[in-house]
Amino acid sequence: MLKLKNIHTFYGPIEAVKGIDLEVKRGEIICLIGSNGAGKSTTLMTISGILRPAAGDISFEGRTINDLPPHMIVGMGISQVPEGRRIFPRLTVMENLEMGAYSAGNSGVLNKTRTKDHLERVLSLFPVLKERQKQQGGTLSGGEQQMLAIARALMSNPKMLLLDEPSLGLAPILVSKIFKIIREINNEGVTILLVEQNAHAALSLSSRGHVLESGRITLQGTGEELLNNERVKKAYLGE
Ligand SMILES: Nc1ncnc2c1ncn2[C@@H]1O[C@H](COP(=O)(O)OP(=O)(O)OP(=O)(O)O)[C@@H](O)[C@H]1O
Ligand SMILES: [Mg+2]
Repeated sequence: MLKLKNIHTFYGPIEAVKGIDLEVKRGEIICLIGSNGAGKSTTLMTISGILRPAAGDISFEGRTINDLPPHMIVGMGISQVPEGRRIFPRLTVMENLEMGAYSAGNSGVLNKTRTKDHLERVLSLFPVLKERQKQQGGTLSGGEQQMLAIARALMSNPKMLLLDEPSLGLAPILVSKIFKIIREINNEGVTILLVEQNAHAALSLSSRGHVLESGRITLQGTGEELLNNERVKKAYLGE
């Protein structure tokens, strides 16, 4: 479904991603794990068109997308939940969700009736957001803001969701809740590319995982294989 071939991405003179190959098949959950600064967020932002690769090719459903602007990539069915849940703090929960549908509406993906149906489906995944729909986004708890960020990304009815550290800063009980929701979203047919520092939870959920170190993929395998890999255990699982 998604293929990255030899992707290189720079910030000015700094090469943050140094030749990544990655494939995500339809229906899968795959994860990228790695330490701070490994290039995980850069990889996701390169896929979603926020950053342009200096070299390499990204294709989605057989079509090259690395020459498309971000809103067209959303229109093709790829939606990103950025690191640090950048919701709009002064807009209500409902307005935040409408913004998610708006960016898709721009490229003609959704119309009003479909948006309304879709909103119901998204809210059924997050009952707490339904209760708080009139509340300002900034007044939600950290976990609720993360749910809002995910719900907003789902408003464009994506085929693939890119999640950047959804469990960051959340209490353990909320972490398992977020991972449960990710599984539910996947069960509804959305393919998932997950970036996480919580390697244990991410690998347990994923069919395949990749370890990113200094801009390169240094190890890959099934979630199970990586969970049992000595290097992964030592470096990322604290065992
Ligand atoms: N805007 C920027 N300007 C310059 N360098 C940047 C910029 N953003 C990231 N970098 C550098 O690119 C490298 C990769 O950063 P990236 O944010 O992709 O890492 P990450 O794996 O997501 O890390 P974290 O787990 O801390 O979120 C790092 O060395 C970082 O310092
Ligand atoms: Mg990051």
